[in-house]
Amino acid sequence: MSQSTQSVIITGTGSYTPAKVLTNDDMAKIVDTSDEWIRTRSGIRERCFAGQDEKTSDMAVAAAEKAISAAGIDRSDIDLIIVATMTPDMPFPSTACILQSKLGLGNITAFDIQAACSGFIYALNTGSNMLRSGAYKKALIIGAEKMSSILDFEDRATCVLFGDAASAIILEASDASGVGVLGSITGSDGSEPSLLHQPAGGSTIPSSHESIDARQHFIKMNGKEIFKQAVRIMEQVSSNILEQHKFKSEQIDLLIPHQANMRIIDSFAKRLKLPMGKFHNNLDRFGNTSAASVGLALDEAYRKGRIQSGDLILLVAFGAGLTWGASLIKWQ
Ligand code: UT7
Repeated sequence: MSQSTQSVIITGTGSYTPAKVLTNDDMAKIVDTSDEWIRTRSGIRERCFAGQDEKTSDMAVAAAEKAISAAGIDRSDIDLIIVATMTPDMPFPSTACILQSKLGLGNITAFDIQAACSGFIYALNTGSNMLRSGAYKKALIIGAEKMSSILDFEDRATCVLFGDAASAIILEASDASGVGVLGSITGSDGSEPSLLHQPAGGSTIPSSHESIDARQHFIKMNGKEIFKQAVRIMEQVSSNILEQHKFKSEQIDLLIPHQANMRIIDSFAKRLKLPMGKFHNNLDRFGNTSAASVGLALDEAYRKGRIQSGDLILLVAFGAGLTWGASLIKWQ
């Protein structure tokens, strides 16, 4: 029987964004919008869209390769893959299985998690607990989205907000104590799925000519309501995890929130009474990349030297479901 492990640490990060960059002015050529509206309402200046032949798993492979190389591990030692995505290559098999083959990994445990924009934290939490049980040693955790594949380019209120990307981390079991993923909280409220959803393509509305004509395979969002909930819930889950681990918000060295809207992040920061200097944001360049977003900002922060050994880092996200999550990490 395997022994439960002491800590779970992040030993490598990686990310990938497609080469094709669309500025707000480019979006204004597609829908009736303007750079000024998008910037002032969301903080987004540009986003990346994957090419037609570029799949979610292709972006995931690129991010994974970087994380594996940063961790300096032999990829054959990876014994678990979890991919968070709501834009899989196809409904099944899972994108994690496709990734297992593309990366040439062994016949290991591989599965997808669907928690929309909170997916990265759900996957991080699930992976950490599977490692903590002692049953697994090295996990590849991915958030990957081809949001452009489900955007309605006739709905200006949603299509200007999202982008495509993938992010990855390697999680490893460690004997060190008091470091790594100190804990996570995840939660959900499924009472109003239509606040943010893709209505068709499942068992409620199977794909049909009618569902396509009605544009039901695209994202539909009640932006105003989602905005309010995001601010409230991100503050609540952040305060809860800090309290659980007996930290005060001023002890956080770096906060990485889901990159949906700069106004959401500003309001959340005020509620948490934390200066913007403690945040790492990159939504101006990538927009909302859903499950990829927290990992994308984490990888960038690490590579820019914003994360040092001993730092206390809070990751927090919110998304469709509704779902939410927070992870507290003491960088090893
Ligand atoms: O990961 C979680 C996922 N989602 C989010 O976090 C999104 C949360 N919500 C939001 O970020 C904001 O609600 C939006 C950015 C989506 C919208 O901002 P808003 O301040 O709530 O704008 P609104 O929906 O109230 O629209 C205001 C106006 C409307 O015009 P009227 O009715 O006042 O004349 C819209 O038709 O802005 C118009 N509008 C646009 N104008 C130019 C909506 N989209 C656009 C656009 N360009 N792209």
